[in-house]
Amino acid sequence: MTLIETERLVLRPYTYDDAERVLDIHSRLEVIRWLSDPPFVPMADLDEARAWIDNWGEGDVGPTNCGLAIEVRRTGVVAGTVMITKVPNAEHDERQAGWHLHPDSVGHGYATEAAAPLIDEAFAAGLDEIWCGMYPDNHASAAVAKRLGLIDRGIVPDPWYDGDSHLFSATAEEWANR
Ligand SMILES: CC(C)(COP(=O)(O)OP(=O)(O)OC[C@H]1O[C@@H](n2cnc3c(N)ncnc32)[C@H](O)[C@@H]1OP(=O)(O)O)[C@@H](O)C(=O)NCCC(=O)NCCS
Repeated sequence: MTLIETERLVLRPYTYDDAERVLDIHSRLEVIRWLSDPPFVPMADLDEARAWIDNWGEGDVGPTNCGLAIEVRRTGVVAGTVMITKVPNAEHDERQAGWHLHPDSVGHGYATEAAAPLIDEAFAAGLDEIWCGMYPDNHASAAVAKRLGLIDRGIVPDPWYDGDSHLFSATAEEWANR
């Protein structure tokens, strides 16, 4: 897929040159503890980082299925990742947006600035609805979803993951009118 550029960021596919940064981000429990169901297993080495990068190149990559490096234009530093992926175990091919940043890149608005144009592109590519779920106490991520204008569906039993989640979503129409 083509690059997405914003005022401060370039969203681009990962390459092996990013492996050390990927390892730095994913070896941190403070980051990965929010990203999936337990057990949370920190990334161990550069081989794992390269395998993680390879993963994003597999399958039908495009705006509704991708994980992109959020590169800060001014510094060239990769702040983190923004993604749209299939919801695991989804019955109707639902898609979810996600984001995570290196702790050194939190607090600048990068996650929100990155996710908005990617969701724009996903809807432009024909997506009907975007979902976003998080642990109920992930207030930083809920704030991103709210800043984006996704609709707060509350803390509910998660249809796809274990336990309760704080769910947000928007249809194409809701996104356009937010
Ligand atoms: C969730 C996460 C991405 C949020 O990061 P974030 O930096 O707080 O979110 P944004 O990038 O939207 O930045 C917003 C913050 O930047 C601040 N900011 C500073 N300069 C800014 C600017 N020029 N423009 C916009 N916001 C700016 C905002 O005020 C806000 O800070 P506040 O929350 O203290 O008010 C981050 O905490 C993270 O990676 N957590 C671990 C992984 C995770 O939980 N991922 C989500 C799983 S569901």
